[in-house]
Amino acid sequence: MAKISTPLTELLGIEHPVCLGPMGMISVPSMVAAVSNVGGLGIMGTANYDPEGLRKAIQETRTLTERPFGVSIMASFPTAGDHAKVAIEERVPFVTTSAGSPKVLAPLFRDAGIECYHVVPTVALAMKAKNAGVTGLVAEGAEGASFKSRDEVSTLVLVPQVVDATGLPVIAAGGIGDGRGLASALCLGAVGIQMGTRFIATQESPIHDNYKQRLVELKETDTRMVGRKAGPLRVAINACSDDMAEFEASTDDPQELRKKIGYHKFPAAALQGDVENGLVVAGQIAGMVKDLPSVADLVRGIVDQAAATLKEKDALVAG
Ligand SMILES: Cc1cc2nc3c(=O)[nH]c(=O)nc-3n(C[C@H](O)[C@H](O)[C@H](O)COP(=O)(O)O)c2cc1C
Repeated sequence: MAKISTPLTELLGIEHPVCLGPMGMISVPSMVAAVSNVGGLGIMGTANYDPEGLRKAIQETRTLTERPFGVSIMASFPTAGDHAKVAIEERVPFVTTSAGSPKVLAPLFRDAGIECYHVVPTVALAMKAKNAGVTGLVAEGAEGASFKSRDEVSTLVLVPQVVDATGLPVIAAGGIGDGRGLASALCLGAVGIQMGTRFIATQESPIHDNYKQRLVELKETDTRMVGRKAGPLRVAINACSDDMAEFEASTDDPQELRKKIGYHKFPAAALQGDVENGLVVAGQIAGMVKDLPSVADLVRGIVDQAAATLKEKDALVAG
């Protein structure tokens, strides 16, 4: 198979510049290890773990893979400091921070010699993160799944501007689902990609089959942003998000909005398979999901297609 080396693969000693995005209840040890074992980088979602739960999950992942993997920490969560402590004690080589400022966490990781990439939706927040001392960034566009910034900048627009403004290594996320996406991200200046939606629709993904099947059925126009007034969240259009959108129209109270518009209905879809009344978190790239491959076939296919795409486009250049 093809090999694509970037500063990210060199830095972490991984084979492919393809990361599994952190996703609570999905990017669990088995899934993280599946991605790392094929030579990508699994990044663990920590939203559902208390600090000791995170330690156990890291240790479990180590029994499933000898390769590098990362963890992600929600910077504004009350558990952030304890999660960071566990990541440092367990010598995890790569951490992403999101949902808040990396100001407190970035220096801790820097001192511990751990790579810390902050997830950013705009150039301004990328500069703030750089000034806080992060070693890299995940630039995530609004077409991606889950919580998003109100600014709603797309990945194509965001990535090259974050690369130019910060000079830091940047992983592109949001709306990437195949090798053309990887090739494009590299052309925009990224050192790798992070995918969420595409990885949910794999054999190993620990989510209900109905959820995977719904992703196969969705078109690129079948997601929406709910919660714009409180904290935008990209999800599939269904009865659950219809209810959320209707509620949002009825109030401007941010607390009420946060209570009703969020992840509380995700387990109904993710675990019980109720993809109408449960929350199906999905990005626009779901329109490209047509099958449920193994993680290994997916990652290898993406790298091969990216390599072929880059070579093919080279022929377009005259002189
Ligand atoms: C169910 C779900 C949960 C997620 N949880 C997190 C999270 O806890 N932290 C985070 O940084 N990103 C989270 N994300 C975002 C993904 O890690 C990834 O960056 C995003 O899905 C990329 O866009 P894509 O879906 O178009 O590939 C989540 C995404 C999904 C679908």
